Amino acid sequence: MRSYLCGSLREANVGEEISLCGWVHRRRDHGGVIFLDLRDYSGVVQVVYDPDTETAFSLADTCRNEFVVQISGRVRSRDDEAVNENMETGFIEILGSELKILNSAETPPFQLDEYSSAGEDVRLRNRALDLRRPEMQSKLRLRSRITHLIRNFMDAEGFVDVETPILTKATPEGARDYLVPSRVQPRSFYALPQSPQLFKQLLMISGFDRYYQIARCFRDEDLRADRQPEFTQLDIEMSFVKQEDVMRIAENLVRKLFIDSIEVDLGEIPVLDYDEALFRYGTDRPDLRFGLQLVDIGDLLLQSEFNVFSAPSKAQGSRVVALRLPNGDRLSRKNIDDYTKFVALYGAKGLAYVRINDLAQGKKGLQSPILKFLSDEEIQNILSRCEVSDGDIIFFGADKSKVVNESMSSLRNKLAEDLDLYSSPWASCWVTNFPMFEKDGEGRISAVHHPFTSPSGDPNEVQQDPLGVKSWSYDLVINGYEVGGGSIRVHEIKMQESIFRALKYSQEEIDSKFGFFLNAMKYGAPPHGGIAFGLDRIVMLLSGSSAIRDVIAFPKTQTASCLMTSAPAEVPSEQLEELNILLSKAEDL
Ligand code: AMO
Ligand code: AMP
Repeated sequence: MRSYLCGSLREANVGEEISLCGWVHRRRDHGGVIFLDLRDYSGVVQVVYDPDTETAFSLADTCRNEFVVQISGRVRSRDDEAVNENMETGFIEILGSELKILNSAETPPFQLDEYSSAGEDVRLRNRALDLRRPEMQSKLRLRSRITHLIRNFMDAEGFVDVETPILTKATPEGARDYLVPSRVQPRSFYALPQSPQLFKQLLMISGFDRYYQIARCFRDEDLRADRQPEFTQLDIEMSFVKQEDVMRIAENLVRKLFIDSIEVDLGEIPVLDYDEALFRYGTDRPDLRFGLQLVDIGDLLLQSEFNVFSAPSKAQGSRVVALRLPNGDRLSRKNIDDYTKFVALYGAKGLAYVRINDLAQGKKGLQSPILKFLSDEEIQNILSRCEVSDGDIIFFGADKSKVVNESMSSLRNKLAEDLDLYSSPWASCWVTNFPMFEKDGEGRISAVHHPFTSPSGDPNEVQQDPLGVKSWSYDLVINGYEVGGGSIRVHEIKMQESIFRALKYSQEEIDSKFGFFLNAMKYGAPPHGGIAFGLDRIVMLLSGSSAIRDVIAFPKTQTASCLMTSAPAEVPSEQLEELNILLSKAEDL
């Protein structure tokens, strides 16, 4: 139907008779001449109809935005004054001779050029139209290029691509499961996989040695800009490896993806200890594109009369930190009030600060609502520990460590974003040495990664002091996003059972949830380990997007719904009956 793509025409084509297909991007009537900007995925080109070509001219006149047309004509140079240097095809145009309307279009709910005023819900409801935008096209095409690069890399490294089930049993990754009822087995449910974790381990037991899969995962959890209920992992597992082996291959892959797709060399990726990451940045996914660090000052305030600081400096599981912002004098009182509200979102009860106006004037050169509560010595010690200069501001966080870490690490990121503190566009790091277990909100012990991660202690230590045991695990962080995580796995039943017991699983639960896995493990499981990358997050970073939704063709909203299809939706009662499902009454919910 066409001899060229719209965006491919250049001056070299001048004089050629060509045909094109595409959408009318815009129609303009310029005193008797009609211009159609014709668009396909490759770009936009201008087609001109003048009244000499009577039939085509009158058809062109009826065209509206997003009509689908086929045109023929001759490529010609534009006059100097008509050249549009902002368009790749801006030096030429097509003098149209024929026009066929392949399909008309209703007035679209938003103009492709003016999508941003439409609101995201309108775009998501009309996603097919939204995806016509060049920006969305290029993001999804980049995604396709990335998966192609991944497959080439994995193939060359001897990895075998194996598909694992979607209708399966629960795979614990810390989120809620999506369940699917079975019709043929009343009262029974499949779970959609939170990851292929156990299957990839089974493939190692099967002797596949190196496995990968671009796998869809499902997690019913609170959504954020970088989380979707269904998302894609590049899932990897390897046999007879140590932590460094997995990290090396993963790092080579990620560096190659960055170089080949956006020509950025991440360089050798530094390794940060988990404890150090929390100590210095308050998070296990620090954004290292800028330098602000938390500084512990609890030891300077043990005797302080200011209870807000002294109580947490003495209490176990609490900390007092300072965060020095160089040139913080650009922040107004209103800015500080806003940051105080911001940290309150993370449970902080306040945001004490000291402005360093003029160090030479001693205490008089400082400005702060808390000076009156602190002794001269305490103030002096804090200032010298923070290595302050004139014009700085120091913020303080004092509370349970969890609250301080979450609020001050978020403040750190927010300051960098608001004040553009970045000194490099990319910064990555590995975080290693995670604790094996942690206490959840209700005081129960849970696995920091998952229960198949190999602890660095022995089975007895796991029983005696679970919270003191570290693990052979690693996360890859880029620009403050956790883009991948993995571990060396347990390959001995004794250790696996010890972990389940530490997690307080009963024997019955172990058998019903993981019996199939332990059974396979009995027959010679090799030492193995692996990693999974969040493919959507990687593409989000590579394409410069701020939301994961922008790199997923048909994403879901914050409430896990698809605005286009209206999923999830009610189903007819016959279908529920067939599945033996009885719904509670709406008023009982
Ligand atoms: P983990 O749970 O860390 O590990 O997941 C691996 C990576 O997947 C991405 N990710 C997500 N991306 C988008 N939306 C989500 N809801 C979401 N949840 C996770 C993150 C994360 O780093 N089985 C283990 C891997 C292993 O041990 O090999 C696992 O799933 O980028
Ligand atoms: P208050 O004594 O509660 O009026 O607090 C005095 C100052 O300390 C105010 O600037 C508060 O914002 C700040 N503040 C209070 N609680 C905390 C806290 N837990 N961490 C940091 N600053 C705090």
